[in-house]
Amino acid sequence: MKTVAIISQKGGVGKTTLATALAVAAELDGKSAAVFDLDPQASASFWKDARGKDASPAVVSLQASRLKETLALAAEGGCDIAFIDAPPVAKDIAFEAAEHADFILIPTRPAVLDAAAMDKTLKLIRAFAKPSAVVLTFCPTQGGREIGDTEEAVKQLGATLAPLRIHNRITYSRAQQTGHTAQEFEPEGKAAEEIKHLYDYTCMNLFTQTAEAKNVRRRTA
Ligand SMILES: Nc1ncnc2c1ncn2[C@@H]1O[C@H](COP(=O)(O)OP(=O)(O)OP(=O)(O)O)[C@@H](O)[C@H]1O
Ligand SMILES: [Mg+2]
Repeated sequence: MKTVAIISQKGGVGKTTLATALAVAAELDGKSAAVFDLDPQASASFWKDARGKDASPAVVSLQASRLKETLALAAEGGCDIAFIDAPPVAKDIAFEAAEHADFILIPTRPAVLDAAAMDKTLKLIRAFAKPSAVVLTFCPTQGGREIGDTEEAVKQLGATLAPLRIHNRITYSRAQQTGHTAQEFEPEGKAAEEIKHLYDYTCMNLFTQTAEAKNVRRRTA
């Protein structure tokens, strides 16, 4: 089993949206996926309530202190990819999530204050020298200077920037209202396409040795 942690010290950057959408993408790809909800706000678990208890992927709400054991059980049970949805602010929980991850995604809005929060998140995960990438979320569809500035800030911090952007699209939130994700709500839409790119990029980091090695080298350089 491979594990992806979605971490950001900043709130409302799209962590839960990406965790649930990536888990659905994995299921659509024929893999068994599960979301591990470490957030006391339990947004992913509420999403699952709306989706229905029999629908995949599984969503498990738990405390970070039980993460190791719960991931081991999931692996034994045949889960292929676990997505950890971490809460904002709580450093110790983010740390725990990073410790158990094979790949770490850091969603960040293209804004100055968010870039500062990204720096804190990067410092927090630095202890682990694991493959990680910053993914820009809520990008204005009409573009804007903030995007280039934030991408520059990511590079200056020596972090890896995912080669795709998640834009600010109403499809993401509309889909969630009924326990769905963008690619289910509007399969031919642009949000669906963005999630597909993010999923492919995530798989490349999880399953391609060369990509993994390259990423780690870049992070530790
Ligand atoms: N790309 C997007 N475009 C438009 N709306 C989005 C996008 N991503 C997420 N949203 C909406 O923004 C809100 C916050 O997203 P989400 O809950 O995924 O963020 P989060 O980082 O998990 O927040 P928290 O830090 O509180 O856990 C939700 O209402 C969600 O539907
Ligand atoms: Mg959340």
